[in-house]
Amino acid sequence: MDKIKALHDEILAKTAEYYRLVHAPAQNAQFEPGKSRVNYAGRVFDEKEICNLVDSSLEFWLTYGRYSKEFEKKLAAYLGIRFALLVNSGSSANLLAFSALTSPLLGERAVKRGDEIITVACGFPTTVAPIIQFGAVPVFVDVESTTANIDAGKLEQAWSPKCRAVMIAHTLGNPFNIKAVKAFCDKHALWLVEDNCDALGSKYDGKFTGTWGDIGTSSFYPPHHMTMGEGGAVYTNNPLLKKIVLSLRDWGRDCWCDSGVDNTCGCRFTKQFGKLPLGYDHKYVYSHFGYNLKVSDMQAAVGCAQLEKFPGFVEKRKANFKRLYDGLKELPQISLFEKYEESDPSWFGFLITLTAEAKFSRNDLVKYLESKNIQTRNLFAGNLTKHPCFESLTEGSDYRISGELKNTDNIMNNAFWIGLFPGMGEAKLDYMIATIKEFCRK
Ligand SMILES: Cc1ncc(COP(=O)(O)O)c(C=O)c1O
Repeated sequence: MDKIKALHDEILAKTAEYYRLVHAPAQNAQFEPGKSRVNYAGRVFDEKEICNLVDSSLEFWLTYGRYSKEFEKKLAAYLGIRFALLVNSGSSANLLAFSALTSPLLGERAVKRGDEIITVACGFPTTVAPIIQFGAVPVFVDVESTTANIDAGKLEQAWSPKCRAVMIAHTLGNPFNIKAVKAFCDKHALWLVEDNCDALGSKYDGKFTGTWGDIGTSSFYPPHHMTMGEGGAVYTNNPLLKKIVLSLRDWGRDCWCDSGVDNTCGCRFTKQFGKLPLGYDHKYVYSHFGYNLKVSDMQAAVGCAQLEKFPGFVEKRKANFKRLYDGLKELPQISLFEKYEESDPSWFGFLITLTAEAKFSRNDLVKYLESKNIQTRNLFAGNLTKHPCFESLTEGSDYRISGELKNTDNIMNNAFWIGLFPGMGEAKLDYMIATIKEFCRK
C-alpha cells in the first residue's frame, strides 16, 4: 500500500513539475503589444487542475463519481442553493432545465406542446433551442440597448394565456431586471429559467443570479467563468424539479442510485410501477424520456480545482471591466454596457455598441482590432430569428415576435465584445483601450 501511495504521489509531483515546465511559461508570458494575441477568453489554471485530472484518471472511475459529487456540493454551497447537478455542457443544462418543465410530475403546471415561452432573440441559440425542439413556441421580446437584456417593460405586451415560462440569459454576466421579471412571472404563474451560463458569480440585490428563478444553468466550457473543458450545471431550490432533472439527466430512470450502486431506495424488487409486473427492478423503471448528460469524473476533478480559485476570478473580472470602462467611456463613437443599481456583475465580456457618431461600421472596427491581434466576438446570434435554422419555421405558429426587435437588430448590426477574463493582465487591457481609441479618433 505504501508503495502504491508513494508511486501515486510521485506521479502527481512529476505532473506538477510538468505543468511548471510546459504550461506555466505560456500563462505568465510577457505581453508584446501587436505581436502577442489578446484572446477574448481562456483557461486560467495551475498545477492543481492537472494534478486533480491525473489523480482522477489514476483512480479510473471514469464516469460520475467522487469529484462530481464534491463539485455539486461545493457549487451549491457557493451559490447558497439546495441542489446543483453536474452535466456535460451549458447547452445540456438548458435542455434539462426546459425539459424538466414539461414533466408530467408537474401536473397542471407542466409545459405542453404549443405553450408559449417568453425569451429573447439576442443571445445564445441553446437558450432557445430546447423550446423549439419540444414543440413549444418561443415568444421573442426586444432587449434594452443599454443592458442587452430583456426589456421588462415589454413583458405584459408579450403575454398571452398560453404563456407558461420565461427563459432568458443574463447577457455577458450583466443581470437582467430580475425584480421586474420575477414580479411578472409571479403575477402570471410562470416558471422562470435563468440561463446563468455567462454570469456565474454575478449578484442582484445581494443574491447570486441563477438562484432567483425556478432553475438556473451554468456552462463550464473553456471561455466561461471557470472551466472543466466540457461541462455545465443545473441548480434549483425545488426538490421536485431536482428529482425531475436528475431523472432526465440519467436516462429518464425513476431510480436515483449512484453509478455502481444498487438499491438506494431499499425497495428495488418490491414496488409496483406503471403497468409493469409487481417487483420489476426499480433500476430499470423509467419515469421520463430522458438522456444521458452526465460528466466524466475527470472533468469534475478539474472543476473542483477551478472552484477553489473562483472567487478570485470574479474579482479579477470586475477589476478588468472597470479598467476597460474607465479607459473607453469618453469616446462618443461607442456606447458601453450599463447595469442596474441592484446588480454586481461578474462580467463575461465587454460589450461595445457603435453610436450614431461613428463614421465607420462595426466590421471596420472589428477587422482593425483583429489585424492588431485583438480577438473580438459578436453578441452570439445577434438576432436569432434571422439565422438559417429559422428558415423552416413559420412566424405566428412556430414562434412569435412581440412588437419589434429594434434594439436586437441594432446589436446584431452594431455591437461586438472584447474579453476581460482573469488571465488578462493590465498591459493587454491598456493595449485594447489604446487601439480602440486610436481607431475611433482617426
Ligand atoms: C448564454 C449561454 N447559454 C448557453 C451556452 C452553452 O454552453 P455550452 O457551450 O457549455 O454548451 C452558452 C455558451 O457560450 C451561452 O453563452
